[in-house]
Amino acid sequence: MSQSDKKRRAAERALEYIEPGAILGVGTGSTVNHLIDALPDIAPRLSAVVASSRATEARLRARGLEVSELEQTGDLDLYIDGADEANKHFHLIKGGGGALTREKILAAAARRFVCIIDDSKWVATLGSFPLPVEVIPMAADFVSRQFVRARGRPVLREDYRTDNGNCVIDVHDLRITNPLEMEQRFNQLPGVVTVGIFAQRPADVIVMATDNEIREMNRV
Ligand code: A5P
Repeated sequence: MSQSDKKRRAAERALEYIEPGAILGVGTGSTVNHLIDALPDIAPRLSAVVASSRATEARLRARGLEVSELEQTGDLDLYIDGADEANKHFHLIKGGGGALTREKILAAAARRFVCIIDDSKWVATLGSFPLPVEVIPMAADFVSRQFVRARGRPVLREDYRTDNGNCVIDVHDLRITNPLEMEQRFNQLPGVVTVGIFAQRPADVIVMATDNEIREMNRV
């Protein structure tokens, strides 16, 4: 089965987590795009939909869905998003699509966070995927030097700005053996807006599509 088919199957299974009247947060990326494509069918059952990026907002609107702001809705009942990597503690790397800051806000504001992945994202130790870090532009060099000290290999995303007008540094070669501690430590670097480790607020549920099945795992 292709990776795209697995992403679609995980996304479609996640529809079952949406309860009637839910305020739903929608993540960003190719996996979530499959979810968005299926949302019009259940839109009448939703109270509100909040987008984690301009790209997601545009796709939702193109499919006829109304998009609300988090300031209007208050906390979310459910947030559904993909990930670049996930481990058995439901810690994640996110931000491959550059939307990590808004994604982290929506995940934090959600009572339940369902993460949808294909099995290529499931890892023993986070860090093979370069860690995205959103950085205030004037601090990009400074923050990069701090990651070199942490034995990472920072690469600035060229000609790229996030929805918030900031840069993204992708840090290669990090072994993220202690996601909770590293998230906190890297987040404290002056100039860092958001680090793409999601450990303080991990996923509650991981829906993972493999060649043969869809595994639904709950964090205990
Ligand atoms: C977007 O910024 C990311 O956090 C995505 O959730 C992540 O990159 C997964 O993307 P795909 O669903 O495209 O693999």
